[in-house]
Amino acid sequence: MSATTATTQPGSTPAHPAGASIPAPGNNLTGFTLTHDLIRRVIPELGRRLAGAAATGTLDTAAVRGLTTWWQMFTTILDGHHTSEDSHVWPVVLAAEPGLTGVARTLEEQHASLDDHLAGIDEGLRQLATGQGEREVVLTGLLARIAEFDALMHDHLGLEERTMVPVLREKVTAGAYRAMLASLASGHDPMDFVPTMPLLLERAAPEARTFMLGGMPPELRSRYEAEFEPGYRTLVAALPAA
Ligand SMILES: [Fe+2]
Ligand SMILES: [Fe+2]
Repeated sequence: MSATTATTQPGSTPAHPAGASIPAPGNNLTGFTLTHDLIRRVIPELGRRLAGAAATGTLDTAAVRGLTTWWQMFTTILDGHHTSEDSHVWPVVLAAEPGLTGVARTLEEQHASLDDHLAGIDEGLRQLATGQGEREVVLTGLLARIAEFDALMHDHLGLEERTMVPVLREKVTAGAYRAMLASLASGHDPMDFVPTMPLLLERAAPEARTFMLGGMPPELRSRYEAEFEPGYRTLVAALPAA
């Protein structure tokens, strides 16, 4: 996962170190929570946008390409989230709670199988965009794949939130949490994830948005506001209705 979608805002150093100026007790999991909220929203939304456009006869190549661009922003966030969980977040949780080793292994295996569904959805969108295969068959298969992916992802997020998240928030020390965030941030070019942030922050509460954008370097923040966010709004406005 990108540093952003893991747990914090962009920038090499968290602007709000864990334990300081944080509304909820424990470590600040704003980015993590936003990402889980996004996952729960976007997957069924893709299905609704596809089905709605098909029902109104507007699922043309341009509509599919717009949805594909939007979905690829989401999968960039999701890929980064899964990768960072496996490489950084779970190890920190396990250091605090070794009894969760089996759960971490299960989650890692689920990440791999979820990737197979992502590839299947990408392929379905590609077939729709290129007119490959019987359109009705491709669309029906794609919608079924999206629904299955959504159900699996709900189970996956629920397992994380019942087991790993409480430890991450309450038991991992503020120092260990800060070190994890710094390690995550140092391993990423902000341009890997800043262009996707308008999607992540689309429905964020004002305080979460402020937190996530707070550490962004001024020149990147300017570009975010002048380029990435308006570009995202234009993209969404042209998508088939949800
Ligand atoms: Fe996960
Ligand atoms: Fe997660």
